[in-house]
Amino acid sequence: MTTLNLDDKRRRSLNLSDQELATAGSLTCGLLRHFERSLGERPVMPTLNRGQLRELFDTPFPELGVGVERLFHDIKEKILPNCTTVAHPRFLAYVLGPPNGISPFAEAIAAALNQNCNFWQLSPAASVIEQKVVSWLASLFAYPATAGGIITSGGSMANLMALSTAMHDKAPVDLRTAGLSAVPAPLVVYTSTEAHRSIEKAAAILGLGLNNVRKVPVDSDFRLRIDLLERAIENDRKSSLIPFCVVAAAGTVNTGAIDPLDEIAELCQRENLWLHVDGAYGALFILSNRIKDQLFSCGRADSISLDPHKLLFAPLEAGCLIVRHQQKLRKAFHFASSYLTAEDDPALVNFLEYGPQLSRGFKAFKIWCSLQTFGIQAFRTAAEHMLDISEYMAQRITAEPSLELLAPVRLSAVCFGFKGSTSNTAILAKLVDEGTALLGPVHIAGRIGIRACITNYRTTRSDIDLILDRLLQLGECS
Ligand SMILES: Cc1ncc(COP(=O)(O)O)c(C=O)c1O
Repeated sequence: MTTLNLDDKRRRSLNLSDQELATAGSLTCGLLRHFERSLGERPVMPTLNRGQLRELFDTPFPELGVGVERLFHDIKEKILPNCTTVAHPRFLAYVLGPPNGISPFAEAIAAALNQNCNFWQLSPAASVIEQKVVSWLASLFAYPATAGGIITSGGSMANLMALSTAMHDKAPVDLRTAGLSAVPAPLVVYTSTEAHRSIEKAAAILGLGLNNVRKVPVDSDFRLRIDLLERAIENDRKSSLIPFCVVAAAGTVNTGAIDPLDEIAELCQRENLWLHVDGAYGALFILSNRIKDQLFSCGRADSISLDPHKLLFAPLEAGCLIVRHQQKLRKAFHFASSYLTAEDDPALVNFLEYGPQLSRGFKAFKIWCSLQTFGIQAFRTAAEHMLDISEYMAQRITAEPSLELLAPVRLSAVCFGFKGSTSNTAILAKLVDEGTALLGPVHIAGRIGIRACITNYRTTRSDIDLILDRLLQLGECS
């Protein structure tokens, strides 16, 4: 029997032995298999309340670890049953998809490699992979060779960074040095009343002020009204304010409406405004043949936000910001520092120069692994499938005398309600409480309706039938 000296013991104390590694591997695979196979039967929402959950995790951390087997036992018994089953085929709330099959493995490997994706020396292959993923995403919209971008934590961060880049590009002063107070009048950003909250949030964070976010009304299809946008810009110029950016949506969060991108792009060109497209929800539907023509004009924007953690089924977190002129992104975020050995080689992309973070994880890896493992075609098929299912749901709702659509179904968001009823919220609450499905409420054109957003490649027509049949029953009893 070998005896370990103190150094060996300390070195090994945070490592797994060969036996533990094998156990952790097989228990992880077992857990993933069991989870995947039981998805449809799992409750969409757990039943324990917050107090019970606190109690469940009330025990102090052990001075001596519980070991691998006990850890996995606790994960299975305490954590798994108390998670929201986001991958459940009847989880249709928000815009949140399930992770694809290879992603848990990609995440584990990325954690082991622990690349710091800030500059070349700390992430050689990773930085090339991130560039490759970004340039593939940019190519979907035919962005030119000048384009570049960065993988972000999600659409909100991409929107924030886009607005910051736009400000640095369009402000009439050197914003970095002089700051906002040197700008002679407020900078104004334009978006629609249907824009995602992350736009206003970004404006607030960046010090633009919510008073300088114009929320332009939408038409009956929930698309930004170009005539009103034009008028708002004109009025602001007359008041000596400084219009600098328009944020259009390629898929609004509520209804999936696609703003009139070509007309907005032309207006922005005439008015010398930055055009940002918030494509976090919808832009990756460009993978679908039937929608791609409507989304292709996203490529006319100065920047676009995308969310691979939605339609590419990468697990959280994975967003992306693409900028038509990569150098403009760099202008907003690049800071030289003497203690970092980032090489000044134009062929290298040191990602620390393209965003606010220094230490950054290898988020591009799970996207790269997904595209490699399944191929682009699989994602095209998933996009078509989600559009098919939403169309089917819309057809069923239209055919049902007591139900009505509250908005046209352009992507995969279906907003509907009971005709002439004010009890949509109560009926939805019953459906959710009994665990049939998770759908969300939607506030639309002065009404509160029900919203299903199909962002899951597992959702089938039978799931939709089950949900609608049950809602109709609940509606009859209400
Ligand atoms: C249109 C739109 N923009 C931005 C976001 C925010 O994206 P994230 O949740 O990745 O930050 C969402 C999220 O659903 C969205 O639908």
